[in-house]
Amino acid sequence: MYHSKKIIPGLIIFFLFMTFPFWFNIGGEAYVTPELVLPEDHENCIESVEFIRAEHMTILDQWRDAYVRDGYGLYESSLTGEMYAMSLTKTCMDCHDDKEQFCDRCHDSVSVSPYCWACHIEPEGVE
Ligand code: HEC
Ligand code: HEC
Ligand code: HEC
Repeated sequence: MYHSKKIIPGLIIFFLFMTFPFWFNIGGEAYVTPELVLPEDHENCIESVEFIRAEHMTILDQWRDAYVRDGYGLYESSLTGEMYAMSLTKTCMDCHDDKEQFCDRCHDSVSVSPYCWACHIEPEGVE
């Protein structure tokens, strides 16, 4: 046989390499969050990370609707019980003051570009 000792392991490695995207994605969880700059002075978001990651767009929509109807409402965190003003700039961006290294970095990685900043003021970011 022609160098089967080398060829077979070689084929196995080649096979694993070529199929990597398939087996790595078992469970569909292979989306990797880019490296984000998180607020240093807070431990928690307004909800659990899993929840806010999936639902922040919905929460912001609800906040906007509530604001338009009644002015600033208060949102009670089901994680900590703390109350937050329903505001994009005053609440979210107060903690997440590095928009570029946080919101933008994540959105760029999935090619979404929320149009909010056409009107809402972006935080300056801290150095
Ligand atoms: C009190 C400060 C604070 C407020 C207010 C806040 N966040 Fe957060 N947020 C955090 C912290 C701290 C984390 C990281 C938590 C962790 O890793 O356990 C986080 C995590 C997140 C994540 C997940 C990041 C990841 O790792 O995937 C998203 C998305 C997010 N926040 C969006 C928002 C949005 C949108 C709002 C407003 C509706 C908001 N946050 C309000 C402090 C805050
Ligand atoms: C962990 C990654 C991640 C982080 C961090 C993150 N987002 Fe998002 N965001 C997404 C994804 C993914 C979508 C698209 C969801 C969809 O279309 O279903 C999205 C969508 C949105 C939308 C709706 C946009 C639209 O056109 O429908 C808004 C508004 C938004 N994000 C605001 C924010 C703000 C504000 C921050 C920073 C405080 C932030 N996001 C941080 C992942 C993230
Ligand atoms: C055409 C301009 C415009 C765009 C685009 C826009 N908004 Fe607003 N939004 C407003 C105005 C005006 C208010 C009223 C607040 C005020 O008077 O300062 C408001 C209020 C809000 C509020 C409640 C008040 C507050 O302090 O945050 C939320 C939450 C909000 N918008 C979220 C969003 C999100 C999320 C997006 C993007 C998906 C968005 N808005 C895009 C103009 C806009």
